[in-house]
Amino acid sequence: MEQYSPQIRTVNVLRYVTPLREGGSLPAIAEADDGFLYVLKFRGAGQGVKALIAELIGGEIARVLGFKIPEIVFANMDEAFGRTEPDEEIQDLLKASVGLNLGLHYLSGSITFDPAVSSVDAALASRIVWMDCLLMNVDRTCRNTNMLMWFRELWLIDHGAALYFHHSIQNWKEQAVKPFVRVKDHVLLPFAAELERADVTCRSILTPEVIRTIVSLVPEEWLTGEEGLSAADMRRIYEQFLITRINSSEIFLKEAQHARSVSI
Ligand SMILES: Nc1ncnc2c1ncn2[C@@H]1O[C@H](COP(=O)(O)OP(=O)(O)OP(=O)(O)O)[C@@H](O)[C@H]1O
Ligand SMILES: [Mg+2]
Repeated sequence: MEQYSPQIRTVNVLRYVTPLREGGSLPAIAEADDGFLYVLKFRGAGQGVKALIAELIGGEIARVLGFKIPEIVFANMDEAFGRTEPDEEIQDLLKASVGLNLGLHYLSGSITFDPAVSSVDAALASRIVWMDCLLMNVDRTCRNTNMLMWFRELWLIDHGAALYFHHSIQNWKEQAVKPFVRVKDHVLLPFAAELERADVTCRSILTPEVIRTIVSLVPEEWLTGEEGLSAADMRRIYEQFLITRINSSEIFLKEAQHARSVSI
């Protein structure tokens, strides 16, 4: 593979356009100073910066594995922003989100992936299932697929609930070698007939070097708030968690194969 050197752009948010859903994290569509619309994930929302860290690391791992994923940007919001927002709940969210938030390029006209309508080929489905086992991503179920169809291609979104080990980060070593039992609810598991091959392919792409590069993208100001852990400690834990998990991928691979054999 050629040298992997991702660039994350930073934009300034100019205008809050509309909330996306009533969901817990209150994402919104916003316009930035580069003229594009973004889906904004706010640092001041329910799960705080950890959801943004998961969104960034998960999203960039997805990109390096070759999946379609909207461009991720850092979206800066200054203090003046949102003062005139009439909705009180939104104004509170904006006030709590001064600084760097995360934006995903808005895929205008996309539709939610529906497994009853579209099928996914075995190689692609297997690699997506493999990645979600690595990330422990609980958010790719039939009820909430977090995949979009855009110009007939499958796009992945919403990795904010992945890497949930970081909510009890002190136990990271134990959690790194745990299978991902909730793979049984993965919307693409029935399509994932080539898990073993996916394991070989994905492992060859996700070298320790690539993982360190991706984790290095996380802004210093997001790596806070853990008892006794510095930003540098936290960064090392994310790296080591992922590298350990990839090195012992047979653990989650076996669980996924088991879940498939039970379900079909
Ligand atoms: N980049 C995008 N382009 C177009 N639509 C998007 C994009 N990202 C998200 N959406 C739409 O907004 C919805 C909510 O976004 P997302 O799933 O990322 O946030 P969330 O906080 O998990 O919300 P929920 O809990 O409701 O799923 C998605 O289900 C999708 O319909
Ligand atoms: Mg979602």
